[in-house]
Amino acid sequence: MERQISLVKDEALAALRGAQTSAELEAIRVKYLGKKGELTLLLRGMGKVPPEERPRLGKLVNEARDELERALGEAGRKLAALEEEQRLERERVDITLPGRRPPMGHKHPLTLVLEEIKHVFRGMGFDVVQGPEVETDYYNFEALNVPKFHPARDMQDTFYITDDILLRTQTSPVQARVMEQRKPPIRIIAPGKVYRRDADVTHSPMFHQVEGLAVDKHITFGDLKGVLKVFAEELFGKDTGMRFRPSYFPFTEPSAEVDISCVMCHGEGCRVCSHSGWLEILGAGMVHPRVLEMAGYDPEEVGGFAFGMGIERIAMLKYGVDDIRLFFENDARFLTQF
Ligand code: DAH
Repeated sequence: MERQISLVKDEALAALRGAQTSAELEAIRVKYLGKKGELTLLLRGMGKVPPEERPRLGKLVNEARDELERALGEAGRKLAALEEEQRLERERVDITLPGRRPPMGHKHPLTLVLEEIKHVFRGMGFDVVQGPEVETDYYNFEALNVPKFHPARDMQDTFYITDDILLRTQTSPVQARVMEQRKPPIRIIAPGKVYRRDADVTHSPMFHQVEGLAVDKHITFGDLKGVLKVFAEELFGKDTGMRFRPSYFPFTEPSAEVDISCVMCHGEGCRVCSHSGWLEILGAGMVHPRVLEMAGYDPEEVGGFAFGMGIERIAMLKYGVDDIRLFFENDARFLTQF
């Protein structure tokens, strides 16, 4: 019996040393200390031992039990710590990995250019105003000194809705509307959509313009030049050259088309500027006396200058885009480049 106790004990302790998991530990506990465990059975077998041996053998079994329990407890703690360590290692997250960026929205290149244009003119004291896209014949043409059947109407192929209502072909009607509503001094720009029956690589049936108007006493062509020079230098760089060519618009007299030195070759001559060294960017002039009169002003008392430009054209030159349709196709590969 005595030998058996120490055999069972040694066997249990040896099994314990080889245990790798808490499940194995539990199996050992059941095998030796469970209800039908080997040490438990030895304790139960005490009844068959001669009475004088019982105290000594009973004590031996109990000691073996205690020792095994202590060893089990210790091994359990060690294994639990080890298993926890392994779990942490397994679940380790590399926090230095770069995250996945959510795709962000992006400003359209035309919006970017328009924001820049607004910023420049606001800096010179101009208000930003708007007018309707569905316009009357009166504001789009008549109030701008283009009577019915005037040949200048052919300059802009118009979408008519009725005989008197149309999609505005230019932002110039906002000039007439503002002059009716305000009193000089006036300094406004009016950005917005305009519509013409026209479509190719440089023309779109809908495009954007920015109109400019200044009306006051003593306004000169020099004021117009100064304002446009600041604009050109702010948008295209300080060393941008500018020239005025005589031109014709019904609502200005004198009228001019304004060129800047080529943004590609800086005046040397290249494909973009058709080897002229210059790029046309806008139309401008001194507000025609008839236009002032129709707005209720006395042309002897006040004068003004006006200008109008295409935002797509400005954006194409600024960013080197050679097809206007790219602005309206909404291909993210194009739009996110700006
Ligand atoms: N409205 C003209 C166009 O669309 C551009 C323009 C030219 C506007 C001269 C003006 C101006 O205000 O003075 O072609």
